[in-house]
Amino acid sequence: MIFLAKIVLEMIERMGRLMARQRHWWNHYLILGVALQLFFLVGCSQSLHSKKLMEDNNQVDLSSPAVQLLRQDQHVVMSNGLVSITLTVPGGAITSVTYKGSDNLLDTQDRREDDRGHWNIFWSKVPEGGTLVDNLEGTSYKIIVENENQIEISFTRIWTSNSSNAPLNVDKRYVMLRGSPGFYSYAVLERLKGWPAFDIEGGRIVFKLRKDKFHYMAMSNERQRIMPTSGDRLTGKILDYKEAVLLTNPTNPEFKGEVDDKYFYSCDNQDSQVHGWISSDPHMGFWMITPSNEFRTGGPNKQDLTSHVGPTVLAVFMSRHYVGKDIDLKFQTEEYWKKVLGPVFVYLNTNSSTNSDPSLLWNNAKQRMQKEIENWPYSFPLSEDFVKANKRGTVSGQLFVDDWYKNKHVMPGASAYVGLASPGATGSWQFQSKGYQFWTQTNHNGSFLIKNVIPGTYNLFAWVFGTLGDYKYSSNITIYPGSNVKARNVVFKAPRKGPTLWEIGIPDRSAAEFFIPDPSPEFKIHKYRVEIEKFRQYGLWTRYQDLYPQNDLVFTIGTSNYTKDWFFAHVTRKVRNDVFIPTIWQILFDLKNVSQGANYTLQLALASANNAELQVRLNNRKSPPDFTTGVIGKDNALARHGVRGSYHFYSIDVAGSKLVVGRNIIYLTQVRSEGPFTEVMYDYISLEGPA
Ligand SMILES: *[C@@H]1O[C@H](CO)[C@@H](O)[C@H](O)[C@H]1NC(C)=O
Ligand SMILES: *[C@@H]1O[C@H](CO)[C@@H](O)[C@H](O)[C@H]1NC(C)=O
Ligand SMILES: *[C@@H]1O[C@H](CO)[C@@H](O)[C@H](O)[C@H]1NC(C)=O
Ligand SMILES: *[C@@H]1O[C@H](CO)[C@@H](O)[C@H](O)[C@H]1NC(C)=O
Ligand SMILES: *[C@@H]1O[C@H](CO)[C@@H](O)[C@H](O)[C@H]1NC(C)=O
Ligand SMILES: *[C@@H]1O[C@H](CO)[C@@H](O)[C@H](O)[C@H]1NC(C)=O
Ligand SMILES: *[C@@H]1O[C@H](CO)[C@@H](O)[C@H](O)[C@H]1NC(C)=O
Repeated sequence: MIFLAKIVLEMIERMGRLMARQRHWWNHYLILGVALQLFFLVGCSQSLHSKKLMEDNNQVDLSSPAVQLLRQDQHVVMSNGLVSITLTVPGGAITSVTYKGSDNLLDTQDRREDDRGHWNIFWSKVPEGGTLVDNLEGTSYKIIVENENQIEISFTRIWTSNSSNAPLNVDKRYVMLRGSPGFYSYAVLERLKGWPAFDIEGGRIVFKLRKDKFHYMAMSNERQRIMPTSGDRLTGKILDYKEAVLLTNPTNPEFKGEVDDKYFYSCDNQDSQVHGWISSDPHMGFWMITPSNEFRTGGPNKQDLTSHVGPTVLAVFMSRHYVGKDIDLKFQTEEYWKKVLGPVFVYLNTNSSTNSDPSLLWNNAKQRMQKEIENWPYSFPLSEDFVKANKRGTVSGQLFVDDWYKNKHVMPGASAYVGLASPGATGSWQFQSKGYQFWTQTNHNGSFLIKNVIPGTYNLFAWVFGTLGDYKYSSNITIYPGSNVKARNVVFKAPRKGPTLWEIGIPDRSAAEFFIPDPSPEFKIHKYRVEIEKFRQYGLWTRYQDLYPQNDLVFTIGTSNYTKDWFFAHVTRKVRNDVFIPTIWQILFDLKNVSQGANYTLQLALASANNAELQVRLNNRKSPPDFTTGVIGKDNALARHGVRGSYHFYSIDVAGSKLVVGRNIIYLTQVRSEGPFTEVMYDYISLEGPA
């Protein structure tokens, strides 16, 4: 616009000179008329432009002061009268965030300039391995736009073959809008064909806040509290792994005996859209808002870290947590790849009322989160790689479930998860990290509408609460800008072979419905204002042995109750320090009759597996296994206080000749015993009779 105005001014100037040379008066009017028309044109498009900005982007508040950029030697400062952030140049680390005239809210005491707010990725060379950290520091920067409504700065780094950085081109962006109480950040990562093969394990933005100010953390309605300090961790005792620390001498004596562990504050990606910290003096909140899950990995139930003791605030874009190495981004030499991570919004709020109840700021942050979600996909990011709403498409349809045993007719798949991810095998989305994913939940009649899909080729996947297994739509779905794809015949044929003779649990990819013990009395349970899920406690794996000191778990169909008699994790038994042995669980069941010549089906769904191998034996504890999973899983969900990691499902044929009339026993042996965290968690087990 400024450029256009300059051209017009220049033309008018030229016309003026022309006029001076004209002898005929009518020529003067003609030239003046053209000049006036040009003026109007520019004026109109100018006001159209700002009107468009306002319409597109209700986050720009034109009644607020203009956004300003200050260039310094080593820094640039963006401010809009509410928020001011200082960035290093050309690196692009955030050294300072201030809000409404506050001091720097980041930790200046213990953190270097480039270690207070920054991006980083964890990566490894192939085949060398070994995790390296790359802070994605820019080597040059550019002001993409600087006007009164928006400033956007790009920090870039081009990879060269002599570089020790991850082989990626980096374009890291920061955006500040007029009147907006915060700022946005996103990054475009790209690797070119022919560059070295390498793996990415994780990627995130992290903020380290002032320790003397931020004491209250909130990441869900239930999980919010005054937190221990990082100093409390130093005086505490490290438990079974370094992240878990018993607080032995905390500054707040109430927390003595509690455990601190950042994995207490893990959250399913689908539920993790706002989290952060509150300072009481000044009464102020610092929040990370993630308005979309499209750029995250592993689908809606992938869990990740949020905020934790530090005070630390994260936006995690990719990680191994609760899945393992299978979700790493593994690049071959010949592979081209590009992905936009974010934008995410750092939101700041305050409330001038004298009431210092943290729920005021938490509730306000949730409202802001809702507003950001409504504005997704954002209209303001200026990188061409961020796909705007009008270049995206939709997919809709109605999901049905065909399970003849439960219903004669196909039934709507109500409250099911339906999503698009890169083409792959059924269920592959849980290990998908290179592409974008778009998920939604069906309504009561199985209808779904997936909006704002970035052009590309996808598979449509689903899983249905209460139905075993995974669904994949038969054909690829290709989205072009503006596509409205209606998926027809979306019918999930349940993997059923015969009538259910008995079942344990609920098919929902989670072990939450099973018995979850209280932690050992040596660990104090933190009293939240509202009750939280029982499984989010340290050390539950040791409780199996307390409950089953001699003999392993035996579950009798008909008399046992899985909510009480089925321990949520099939763990090892500790015999001495650092020596663990496998455990063998039994399911006892009676059959009144057996079709010797037919097959029965053992449906076995696992909610988690960590370095495990599960063997199944029928009616003979000593026989070779009738079935084995082989070595599976590295999701580490048990150590991280989860009830789900990655999902595994097996339909196992059981010859009728293996069964007897009367009492039968299924032996489940988790044969690996490397340590306390070698485990499987069952999601659901059933025995189906012959078809
Ligand atoms: C790598 O090579 C480029 C030229 O290709 C040069 O400009 C740069 O300084 C080199 N970097 C290092 C770290 O040696
Ligand atoms: C501030 O808190 C009061 C309640 O004390 C509430 O009514 C008001 O909406 C809050 N203001 C903002 C901006 O959240
Ligand atoms: C499913 O429910 C939605 C919302 O209630 C409704 O708009 C739609 O017409 C229903 N579709 C069918 C096929 O019943
Ligand atoms: C679906 O897309 C993938 C990846 O683009 C391709 O390899 C595959 O052949 C396609 N499948 C069908 C049935 O078109
Ligand atoms: C199993 O136990 C739970 C909780 O104690 C109870 O609500 C449920 O009714 C029991 N189920 C059966 C089949 O007895
Ligand atoms: C076998 O026993 C089941 C109950 O366990 C019963 O429902 C079924 O009718 C019996 N079948 C035959 C052929 O007797
Ligand atoms: C039973 O299962 C086995 C192993 O999968 C298979 O080879 C066999 O054909 C099946 N028998 C019947 C009667 O379906």
